[in-house]
Amino acid sequence: MKSDLSINFAGIKFNNPVLTASGTFGYGYELADLIPLKKLGGIITKTITRQPKEGNPQPRIAEVCGGMLNTIGLQNIGVEAFVGEPLEKLKEIGIPIIVSIAGSCDKDYIDTAKILNSYKGISAIELNLSCPNLKKQVVCSDLPLTRDIIKGVKKSVKFPVIAKLSPLITDIAELALQVEKAGADGITLTNTYPAMAIDIKTFKPKLSTVKGGMSGACIKPMSIRSVYDAYQKVKIPIIGCGGIMTGEDAVEFMLAGASAVSVGTASLLSAKNLIKIIDDIENILKEKKIKNIKEIIGRVL
Ligand SMILES: Cc1cc2nc3c(=O)[nH]c(=O)nc-3n(C[C@H](O)[C@H](O)[C@H](O)COP(=O)(O)O)c2cc1C
Repeated sequence: MKSDLSINFAGIKFNNPVLTASGTFGYGYELADLIPLKKLGGIITKTITRQPKEGNPQPRIAEVCGGMLNTIGLQNIGVEAFVGEPLEKLKEIGIPIIVSIAGSCDKDYIDTAKILNSYKGISAIELNLSCPNLKKQVVCSDLPLTRDIIKGVKKSVKFPVIAKLSPLITDIAELALQVEKAGADGITLTNTYPAMAIDIKTFKPKLSTVKGGMSGACIKPMSIRSVYDAYQKVKIPIIGCGGIMTGEDAVEFMLAGASAVSVGTASLLSAKNLIKIIDDIENILKEKKIKNIKEIIGRVL
């Protein structure tokens, strides 16, 4: 028996629930020589901004127990360059493409979204609401700004809008509810966790910006908790993200309430992990004689 892995997420049809997490898979087409990209459920691009960004100085990455820290600083070519060759190549893959965007004020997000809206081949926009706003706070910790971004982008685009939230929030489920009320079509939970590591040989922080975002296996239980809490409060679908290294992890997120998952650090270790996760999900369903993956969403007892 072959299980049906397809998911309808806010009107987007994914052949399976496994997506690439923003920023960990380049623009999304560069790894075509390593894995059959068409097998993925979908691609979430690295975050694109209105103007190109150089990102933060090196070192930008540090390994820690059970995961890694990064401070890439949203390095990207800017939306005008993105809609050229990168978007063309992404479209050729033939799977849903979700473009992640960010900015420091609502106008940044809206202007970037408006440019994307005039191109074909984009399935959705993911709003990266975890970057700093003009007051240097995480965007989604500023509720009026979060609402203005969601409402403004929704008015400007024809495709679904997914809000990616930072876990640096006291009540993530309440924020998820506010995001739903503002008009988001889906939510991604969560981005990286603020963290720091120090080199005891030099006494210096391991990252150029001192602090960065932690990802990988070590954040999985915290991210699952966020998905579980939000699932109790919202009706819009959730993309679970944070520490998914195996098919078992992906199934755990779906039992907690995620309709799809996005995988980051595991794909940095090896892009082949993405394919393995899809195959493993299929095997788990087969073992449990579950015909349709939708049956497991939010099914934790
Ligand atoms: C090197 C690196 C770069 C990232 N860049 C972005 C980014 O541009 N936009 C974004 O929304 N998240 C970014 N993230 C966060 C991931 O998309 C994901 O939310 C996080 O890593 C947790 O998932 P994981 O444990 O599977 O890696 C980045 C993560 C890493 C490790």
